[in-house]
Amino acid sequence: MDLYAVVGNPIAHSKSPLIHSMFAEQTGESMVYEKIEAPLDGFNKTVKDFFAQFNGKGLNVTVPFKEQAWDVCFSRTERAELAGAVNTLFLDDHGQICGDNTDGIGLVMDIKAQGIELKGKKILIVGAGGAVRGILQPILKEHPAQLCICNRTVSKAEALANMMKGMGEVEFGSVESFNEAFDIVINGTSASLNGELPPLQNTIITKHTVCYDMMYGAEETVFNAWARSKGALKVIDGLGMLVGQAAEAFSIWRGVVPETKNVMTALRSL
Ligand code: ATR
Repeated sequence: MDLYAVVGNPIAHSKSPLIHSMFAEQTGESMVYEKIEAPLDGFNKTVKDFFAQFNGKGLNVTVPFKEQAWDVCFSRTERAELAGAVNTLFLDDHGQICGDNTDGIGLVMDIKAQGIELKGKKILIVGAGGAVRGILQPILKEHPAQLCICNRTVSKAEALANMMKGMGEVEFGSVESFNEAFDIVINGTSASLNGELPPLQNTIITKHTVCYDMMYGAEETVFNAWARSKGALKVIDGLGMLVGQAAEAFSIWRGVVPETKNVMTALRSL
């Protein structure tokens, strides 16, 4: 059986082994998927040992190693280059370690799976950290009418907007500076982790605004609760993005695109 794993620190609560075992069962692929906690100073050795000693076929990489995973690669896909981070490692025909980033496409696939088009939409992204950097190219590829980034530290939003020049226009500003209604608002900050909410203007939300928090948890996130209280009817958390990025990784490794809807339903019922 082919061996795969997710590596992170901590890793105990990762849902990836469960998701990939459901994909494997559904598609009849012969594989095992484990979780590995790499020491904080031992990511490179963990990766090298996984492929060389344990004959591993592919790795997912999660917090805090996605930037280190970028460095460990012999080559990277364009979207991983642009993201500056790698969440999926695989071997090429010569056995060399290659890196991809499936987070952004996972988000886009999840939004589209919910019947929402990004094309022609006015989109606001909140945050300008590593997570947001990874979603910009996949979103621009969908041809939104307008893409804006706001962040507590405006210079980071500006840097991301500049980085995307040539791929599409990205406007930037402080969180408070955006006050017109958007079709889609995506929270890519880690503020929810601390139960905090960036100082967003109420006027960005109408009942038609789709609100998406890239985070998820057993409880509704602070951002999604706020969006609902401002009247947004469609409010989505990041569980579908997690399943979407996993599905894309699975198809890179196995050449088969798994079905995600039933996996989502199973995860929600846990
Ligand atoms: P990640 O890899 O999850 O993106 P990160 O690179 O540390 O993590 O980025 C965290 C993002 O959440 C940043 O946009 C950060 O804003 P700053 O760039 O100003 O630091 C944002 N963030 C975190 N906590 C926040 C809070 N309480 N209010 C507003 N923004 C917050």
